[in-house]
Amino acid sequence: MKVNVALGSNAYDVTIGPGARHELGAILEQACAGYQSCVIVTSKELRGQAWFDIDHRNDATVLEVPEGEGAKSFESLAVLCEQLAALKVSRRDVIVSVGGGALSDVCGFAAAVYLRGIKVIHIPTTLVGQVDAAIGGKTAINLGAGKNLVGAFHQPVAVLCDSETLETLPERERRSGFGEVAKCWLLEDRRSSALASASLDELILLSVTLKARIVAADEFESGERALLNYGHTLAHALEVLALSRDPDMLRHGEAVGVGLAFAARLAFALGRIDESEVANHDEVLSYFELPTTVPQEFSTRSIVDAMGHDKKAHHDLTFVLAGENGFEVVRGVEQGLVAQVLDEFRAER
Ligand SMILES: NC(=O)c1ccc[n+]([C@@H]2O[C@H](COP(=O)([O-])OP(=O)(O)OC[C@H]3O[C@@H](n4cnc5c(N)ncnc54)[C@H](O)[C@@H]3O)[C@@H](O)[C@H]2O)c1
Repeated sequence: MKVNVALGSNAYDVTIGPGARHELGAILEQACAGYQSCVIVTSKELRGQAWFDIDHRNDATVLEVPEGEGAKSFESLAVLCEQLAALKVSRRDVIVSVGGGALSDVCGFAAAVYLRGIKVIHIPTTLVGQVDAAIGGKTAINLGAGKNLVGAFHQPVAVLCDSETLETLPERERRSGFGEVAKCWLLEDRRSSALASASLDELILLSVTLKARIVAADEFESGERALLNYGHTLAHALEVLALSRDPDMLRHGEAVGVGLAFAARLAFALGRIDESEVANHDEVLSYFELPTTVPQEFSTRSIVDAMGHDKKAHHDLTFVLAGENGFEVVRGVEQGLVAQVLDEFRAER
């Protein structure tokens, strides 16, 4: 299955399905004609997985970066770029990320800045990577001051979403990845009743198709792309609060699950949707076994304050909300109402 991200001269295909990683050789010939070296960037742990069998087939050199979020630092970016330089990687060459969203973020950023830009192919190996991080060209590393504060837009030349690689994902990573899938399912106005007949590859396809369509319409996030932040106003606030306590407390997708359940209730309180749509949200989240409880440790006040500091909220309380005209970015939602709905939501659970 292929989805095209229609970005004119920067357009590319996302290939989805079991075994998609084996398309790498063909993609290198087609999209990177004349390349001399192919460098795969992954982590030590992922290199040891049984599905990591693409380097020898494609005569590639393999470089390792630290696991997960540890890869998204200036230090790891510098080491990676020095290694590319030592290998004499030129602007005709290509790097291939094989890993989760953290890995595609740092690798994409290295591809954006090394020699002022070289080609990158992503082979995302987490659900978050396949339905979100590897598509759309946003790349980033973290600062002490916050996540993703340094980065660039740099589109890949291809993305290969291979569901076979997901078989080794730890259960919590897998479940949390469904937070973004649930978001896409709801943004596409799908009913919970249709979920039982959707395979994993079909869920990935639906999510990728939605993201590709939105990215093609708004590559640099000046408008419609903000809809992809559905559920994220509360999710980001919870993540910021959780990070200061215990980085392991809340995965992004788990926070998105809570954020989606809350966004439905806020839309209901604003008269935008009816109770059946709130129930549909709850059923979708329950199908994916996503948590919908706000951690007791955080007061409603601290959560509302954290929402106000979300960089994507432009210092206002801004939410993506469902409504009669579909999903919209709703600005200037009164803080008092947000606190009241949040209190009611917490009391429900
Ligand atoms: N650029 C974007 O548009 C975008 C979008 C969403 C998220 N992100 C970023 O993505 C990151 C989160 O990505 P993530 O959820 O994929 O987590 P991750 O990349 O941190 O990976 C989580 C863990 O799973 C391991 N792992 C990866 N694939 C595996 C596999 N197949 N089998 C076993 N273990 C595997 C990783 O080594 C890591 O330890 C965050 O840094 C976030 O900012 C970026």
